[in-house]
Amino acid sequence: MSRIDLDGKWRFNLVPRADLVTDGFEAPGFEDAGWAQIEVPGHWQLQGHGSPAYTNVNYPFPVDPPNVPDENPTGEYRCLFQLPAGWPAGEAVLRFLGVDSAFTVWCNGAELGWSSGSRLTTEFEVGSHLRAGANVVAVRVHQWSPASYLEDQDMWWLSGIFRDVSVISRPAGSIDDYFVHADFDHVNGTGTLRVVTDVPALLTIPELGLQQVPAAGPHLLPDIEAWSAEQPRLYDGTLSAGGETIALRVGFRTIAVLDGLLTVNGRRILLRGVNRHEWDPDRGRALTAQDMLSDVLLMKQHNINAVRTSHYPPHPGFLDLCDEYGLYVIDECDYETHGFVLNEWRRNPSDDLRWQPALLDRMQRTIERDKNHPSIIMWSLGNEAGHGQNLSAMSALAHERDPGRPVHYEGDWDSAYTDVYSRMYASHDEVDAIGRLAEPMTENPSLDAHRRGLPFLQCEYAHAMGNGPGGLLEYQRLFEKYPRCQGGFVWEWIDHGIRARTEGGREFFAYGGDFGEPLHDGNFVADGLVFPDRTPSPGLAEYKAVIAPLRLLIESGHVTITNLLDFADTTPLRFLWTHEADGVEVDSGELDVAPVAAQECATMPLPTLATVPGESWLTIRAVLAQDTVWAQAGHQVAVSQTMINRAPARSARRGSLSRDLFDERTGLLIRVGAMLVDGPRLDLWRAPTDNDHGTHGPPVEAGWRALGLHRLTHRVIDRQWTPDGFVLRTKVAPAATDLAMLATYHWMADGEALVLRVSVEPEGDWTVPLPRLGLRMALPVGIDDVEWFGGGPGEAYSDSSQAAIIGRYQRSVDTMQTPYVFPQENGNRLGVRWARLRGASNGVRIEGDPTFDLTVRRWTTEDLDAARHTSDLRPRDKVFVNLDLAQTGLGSASCGPGVLPKYELHAAPTNWTVRLMPDSGHGV
Ligand code: GAL
Repeated sequence: MSRIDLDGKWRFNLVPRADLVTDGFEAPGFEDAGWAQIEVPGHWQLQGHGSPAYTNVNYPFPVDPPNVPDENPTGEYRCLFQLPAGWPAGEAVLRFLGVDSAFTVWCNGAELGWSSGSRLTTEFEVGSHLRAGANVVAVRVHQWSPASYLEDQDMWWLSGIFRDVSVISRPAGSIDDYFVHADFDHVNGTGTLRVVTDVPALLTIPELGLQQVPAAGPHLLPDIEAWSAEQPRLYDGTLSAGGETIALRVGFRTIAVLDGLLTVNGRRILLRGVNRHEWDPDRGRALTAQDMLSDVLLMKQHNINAVRTSHYPPHPGFLDLCDEYGLYVIDECDYETHGFVLNEWRRNPSDDLRWQPALLDRMQRTIERDKNHPSIIMWSLGNEAGHGQNLSAMSALAHERDPGRPVHYEGDWDSAYTDVYSRMYASHDEVDAIGRLAEPMTENPSLDAHRRGLPFLQCEYAHAMGNGPGGLLEYQRLFEKYPRCQGGFVWEWIDHGIRARTEGGREFFAYGGDFGEPLHDGNFVADGLVFPDRTPSPGLAEYKAVIAPLRLLIESGHVTITNLLDFADTTPLRFLWTHEADGVEVDSGELDVAPVAAQECATMPLPTLATVPGESWLTIRAVLAQDTVWAQAGHQVAVSQTMINRAPARSARRGSLSRDLFDERTGLLIRVGAMLVDGPRLDLWRAPTDNDHGTHGPPVEAGWRALGLHRLTHRVIDRQWTPDGFVLRTKVAPAATDLAMLATYHWMADGEALVLRVSVEPEGDWTVPLPRLGLRMALPVGIDDVEWFGGGPGEAYSDSSQAAIIGRYQRSVDTMQTPYVFPQENGNRLGVRWARLRGASNGVRIEGDPTFDLTVRRWTTEDLDAARHTSDLRPRDKVFVNLDLAQTGLGSASCGPGVLPKYELHAAPTNWTVRLMPDSGHGV
């Protein structure tokens, strides 16, 4: 196949209105030397022309379909290229993989046509216009078009030629269209292969003994290894006709809804998915092959097995990777009209027949482009486009063209024309009801039985905005409990932050409103499991742990290994154990585990462990035995721990407490050894997370602020030196209310340790859960290193704690922070037994009784609360430390349910103890 790649630098000119375009710019001889240069693929707003804008639901123009504003920025592109010597005469196509939003194309001055459908492919016949030597392609792209009404996805409005452009010769008699049907019969292991082509073609798949056979077949092939996300077996082959040979990668699999279950190759599958937008912080939706590969590798490494391509077909290169590495895909049409909801769905294109041809065109182009990918297990009609007959027509088109794939759409809960019952952000209780087939009726009672007969999935759940989501484990247990509940897709994969710099040169990620947009939705665009630069967030670590395809249940004397996969056995894994005392390895080894088949379990004895002093833990890890294409040998897939020995009870020793350790006026501790500190005092506040803020869920932040928890005052009631120490009684309360916490600090000495027992008694009627209940203190600025024995290595909270493993860890103060795009509470380490916080010359050791939660940072909670971007956070001249009894969980209320009741922290009389002692410095 002869092909010219037109990616690279093009000439570019942006005009602010569609009626200000440059006459004659398409002429080959047009003088464009004065024009700017622009990278294609790319968005003009990210290359210095105009600026990005972010809205979620709102259209950024009046809802007046199909009209768009006269202020319609229009980009004029010119590309000069040489036709290679020997270029075949005859037909050729000029192919655009993505242009946002509507465009007209010329070649050598001749108009080829126009198109829209930003994330869909368009091909123009160009062969008769090509000439030897220099050729000029000119493209005029409008930011707004009638098609913009169909593309109201929650993302940045970014325009231009953002995917590849190429010229491809089409030899006479060659194949313009082919459809690979590769079914798998799971009962007898036979594959049936039919390749339907628009001209007669020959098929070769050497491995299957097919050599130049008629493509149409059908070819019945015994002993086929089927394709699944777990075992993405592909057979390489070719298809040829008219002197052209096309490479094929065939995966045999059969998707069906059988007895109310979504099945692949006859088995119910469980979707451990994510919603993926295409994103790069510098190039927007113009992704490189490396970006796509990074996404796929990260997903595989984090136990993810499915992707919904929210809310448009991705770059086709991504689907090639899904075929090859193994990810189930719901391929979604480029369609959303969410903004009509704000006008009670009046004139919604989904139900207006005048839009039907455009919508069918989108569905058809989605299917025709992507139908040969074995990874695609469902077509999705689009997202949040209300109800209507056009959706039903799109579904009919999909069923007719491709009976081999079920159809998905979430926006119409009656599910009349879909093959799965799909919802977004349903609460745990609702999912439970759906699992029991006990959900309330939807709008149309006559469809009730139909819907109850469908498999259920959450096409979006667990909104990963900022710190969170919490409650993933409880969802996963429901998906595992009820056959009908076949998993879901976390919203979403990546934060869409745009890399930017302050005037002083500090880098940060920008979000809605940072470009002066009059209408925007702020940081709602940053809600992914990975940061904009693809650094995994703690939420991704949690998701990996929750969806681990193996469960390792360690009980007295034995471990039960349950293989939660649907197809593959455990042959690729080794099971390694370590026995650690106080976080230091005592012994390690490997369990001899015979392969455990999918959905089966096996029980085996634990190794004999030495008796050791101190708290000891047995940790069992399932790791890859060998390198795979997506991770190296040793990569951890699942882990589980059990405590073998409890820490011995501490024998109380007494010492004398020196009066000069405490400030006479405030009663607060001022020194640990020689190190000056701002002594611990009660703290209830945390920098509200996006989930506390609760944009589309229960907002606890508002209740906290209304009470004044962010502006607590402290009053000393009395202080008393007693025979066993010092007792300081205080009242901690916000202004303007008679609610309070009575906090009593009882200090004692134990050798060189200072023992603090804090008792807290709420006064009044505390109706809201507390952000946190803890102590805050400050240490000298030189403290830079943290070592601890407890939960780690990453941050964890009560409802997001599955990734935290008890061990010994070390981090710098700076790397204890999680740089959420919108600053908020972060960095908590759960279940800390002891921690050493050290600088070059001194430090403090803090011990729990038995544990505390630890947060260490160079700014205050109030600084974190006030910051709008990471660049606003400036280190102070102290290090702030929280020693908490607990925090309330995270939940998912930025869009979805709040914190589950069992993870809410409520005011109640309580007490806890910490011990502080001087520690040496770590040296320089
Ligand atoms: C859903 C929508 C997504 C995204 C999400 C919130 O309703 O389908 O596109 O907006 O909410 O982040």
